[in-house]
Amino acid sequence: MKQLDAIIIGGGVIGSSIAYHMSARGMNVILLERDRLGSQASNAAAGMLAAQAEMTEVGPMFDLARASRALFPKLATDLRELTGIDIGLKRKGLLRVAVTEADVTEIQRTLAFQKTVGEQAEWLSLEQVKQREPGISSDLLGAMLVEEDGQVDAPELCLAFAKAAAALGAQIKEFTEVKSLIYAHGRMTGVVTSEGTVHADQVIIASGTWSGPLLEQAGLTCPIYPVKGECFSVLSHTPLLQSTIFSHGCYLVPKKGGRLVVGATATAHSYDRKVTLKGISKLLESAKQLLPGIVETEWERAWSGLRPQTLDGLPYLGEHPSLKGLYVAAGHYRNGILLSPMTGKLVADWAEGKTEKVLSLEAFRVDRHQNVPNERAGVLL
Ligand code: FAD
Ligand code: GLY
Repeated sequence: MKQLDAIIIGGGVIGSSIAYHMSARGMNVILLERDRLGSQASNAAAGMLAAQAEMTEVGPMFDLARASRALFPKLATDLRELTGIDIGLKRKGLLRVAVTEADVTEIQRTLAFQKTVGEQAEWLSLEQVKQREPGISSDLLGAMLVEEDGQVDAPELCLAFAKAAAALGAQIKEFTEVKSLIYAHGRMTGVVTSEGTVHADQVIIASGTWSGPLLEQAGLTCPIYPVKGECFSVLSHTPLLQSTIFSHGCYLVPKKGGRLVVGATATAHSYDRKVTLKGISKLLESAKQLLPGIVETEWERAWSGLRPQTLDGLPYLGEHPSLKGLYVAAGHYRNGILLSPMTGKLVADWAEGKTEKVLSLEAFRVDRHQNVPNERAGVLL
């Protein structure tokens, strides 16, 4: 059997994207997932590609997000050709709406910074918003329209990445938990799993919220903690919206077949994935304020997931400073779906010995929280 080039730990959207990108470069990889593929955060996500609408300042995250968003059109075609899966890429724009005067001020500030870097974003009056989206509430004060911020179907994207990787030769092992890392003389040599030992000299930790303890085994402190998000979906015969609507209280993401996803709550430090009435009723109240007609729709279902958050809100991306062959791609918090193509591409580049020339990755260094005292780990700075 051909020797493995790399072991990827975690079959969420990040690990699956890495498996796809490495396989597409001819590398022989194995993807290890302790449950089913995409059974955690990646299955819960609303799929917004909010590279502009969810960002609050110019910086490395904004650059990474826009670079990743730009990869989606080609990716959607490539994944469909390899797997037959349609990832549901829609580019009908995102409206970040203002409910209060404070929202107007904040959105105008966001608009201004987008313009300094030459990104398209414009302010629409309520009348203009209602021309695009007649169902929207007449109590809103206007909105920022970002034409480029589209959306995908997150569970499909995750599966498409993994199945495309398999089509290109990757091994996919579900119900296989990585228990520990194996290394000697400053180099990775493999991992111990619930199903036995696997050897490779490159190991990528992409285990979302659960990445921290594995990294501790390699002496690396990357505190990652869960932020639970609850969502629900409703159905209507005719779609209530064309664009995604985003506000402080909730967002509304129209999917195919008249389905509308409403998200999401945010409860930090909770591994408890129970969907609560408190969470859903809060979301419904906010959704009614934005789209009064939602009360006439048919209930579909509710769910939750755990966003992997870090101390500074930025993912950990890079190689272990002293252990050769150990890479980290974890902590993508609210934007893992958006950031998945670029994350996969970066890790495949590193595995080939290439360094990133366009983006600045310093802010994502994996050892940036190495000296954070234990009592601060898990508390957002
Ligand atoms: P996960 O999907 O959590 O995958 C990690 C995987 O690793 C899991 O499957 C787990 O079982 C596995 N694992 C853990 N430990 C081990 C081990 N020891 N051995 C083997 N396997 C292991 N992002 C966007 O870009 N747009 C959105 O609109 C959006 N909406 C969201 C809405 C909600 C409600 C939530 C919760 C998240 C949302 N996100 C969104 C964020 C996005 O879902 C996450 O950032 C992304 O899914 C993280 O992917 P991941 O692969 O790192 O983690
Ligand atoms: N990005 C949307 C969320 O995390 O809820």
